[in-house]
Amino acid sequence: MRLPDYKEARTRDKREYKRVEFSFEESIKGKYKGKTFFLKTYGCQMNEHDSENIEALLVELGFSKVDDYEKADLVLLNTCSIRENAHNKAFGMLGRLKHLKSERSDLLVGLCGCMAQEASVVDEILKKYKFVNFVFGTHNMYQLPEIIDKAIVENKQQIEVYSREGDLIEGLPVVRANNYKAYVNIIYGCNKFCTYCIVPYTRGSERSRAKEDILKEVDQLISEGYKEITLLGQNVNAYGKDLYEDYTLGNLLEEIAMKDIPRVRFMTSHPWDFTDSMIEVIGKYKNIMPSVHLPVQSGSSRILKLMGRRYTKESYLELFNKIKETVPGVSISTDIIVGFPGETEEDFLETLDLAEQCKYDNAFTFVFSAREGTPAARLKDDTPQEEKEMRLQRLNEVVNKYFLENNKKLEGKVLPVLLEGTSEKKDMYFGYSDTNKLINFVTNKEHKIGEIVNVKITSSKTWSLDGEEVE
Ligand code: SAH
Ligand code: SF4
Ligand code: F3S
Repeated sequence: MRLPDYKEARTRDKREYKRVEFSFEESIKGKYKGKTFFLKTYGCQMNEHDSENIEALLVELGFSKVDDYEKADLVLLNTCSIRENAHNKAFGMLGRLKHLKSERSDLLVGLCGCMAQEASVVDEILKKYKFVNFVFGTHNMYQLPEIIDKAIVENKQQIEVYSREGDLIEGLPVVRANNYKAYVNIIYGCNKFCTYCIVPYTRGSERSRAKEDILKEVDQLISEGYKEITLLGQNVNAYGKDLYEDYTLGNLLEEIAMKDIPRVRFMTSHPWDFTDSMIEVIGKYKNIMPSVHLPVQSGSSRILKLMGRRYTKESYLELFNKIKETVPGVSISTDIIVGFPGETEEDFLETLDLAEQCKYDNAFTFVFSAREGTPAARLKDDTPQEEKEMRLQRLNEVVNKYFLENNKKLEGKVLPVLLEGTSEKKDMYFGYSDTNKLINFVTNKEHKIGEIVNVKITSSKTWSLDGEEVE
């Protein structure tokens, strides 16, 4: 048994990470043929992508996927710790599984992902969820085959969580959820330690993948017919800093953009690490999508300081405007937290003002959620929860207004859309524009999913646009 420890998770040092090629333990390949699994993913794109690896590992063990957890032999929850409600969802599911297991004692239940890295969660599992067969963390996902095998063979609970990152594992198998759009990890972990955020504890140090490994994966995806690649990291703008003297996200984007891939995206960008040369590269290449997710978190410089974000309202706006000026037609989205400890009405008005100035194309808005072990969780917080919920509503009214206003401006314009599917009634296609807008459109032509089609916008809504195909 190995238990997570926050103190250790917090440490950062200048160690070099060994690159290790993954190999699947031959003796257990296909061992569980005939068994089924249900995998539930909570959380961000990083977790979704991890689940694509997890699925492939389970398939190599012999398991096949089912969509109904009540019919599965193995239920695995890939969890998220970012806010309390993500926690509650996973624990709610564990409650249902406890019930199911009382009827089917042979059911295997596992938990992995970010919550597995939290000592208090593992403690609760040890005490209250003894029926959980195995737990592994974000740093040892590659050990899944051995851990599951051991849980079955020994018929004993396996808790294997590393507090700190280990080697950099390359060559994990993957079953991708989509045949045209793919995620490619470029950097793991986070060193920013924003005071409210749990990710640096659950995902460890910033570690960039070698550019050769990334480029190889991109080439492979191109040869398989992928049309869109999203480079992933908690802060992609820090790419390369730990590995190279002068090779950054800008260089990587440029090398990928020169390949034969129609669409390149990247997320998430921390404003602090955004350099002019990166902005120029984004503006220079047609296949780097003009869409930037630039989380601001707050419009109050005082709160930003307490959050440890390392920029002010003014310097954020400067960066925002530079991106708008340099990248033609760019859409910018953001994340905003309201109700950070000590946020006053005045601070909140600064956030509303920033939202009015930026007129975001999309925004993910949250009420602050205290995460155990983070500095912000220890700050005095005297704003009532109802007041925080009110602020969220007020903010949403402002951001929604601009989603619609921006969309309205697109009426009559022609946008390239990567086709993803058909509507329920099959009378419309849908897909995403270069600027990441959801577009529903009609056409009298037959198309296949994965094609890029030009669509003229005919009407706009807050969350989507309607249009028709043009030549
Ligand atoms: N790495 C990304 C953020 C990943 S988490 C970045 O730095 O931009 C996604 C979003 O969740 C964050 O941008 C933040 O807005 C929100 N978030 C993170 N911790 C939170 C907390 N404790 N309470 C509420 N929202 C939080
Ligand atoms: Fe969390 Fe900040 Fe890192 Fe983003 S940059 S993952 S918000 S600590
Ligand atoms: Fe959640 Fe972990 Fe992602 S905490 S947001 S799944 S990195």
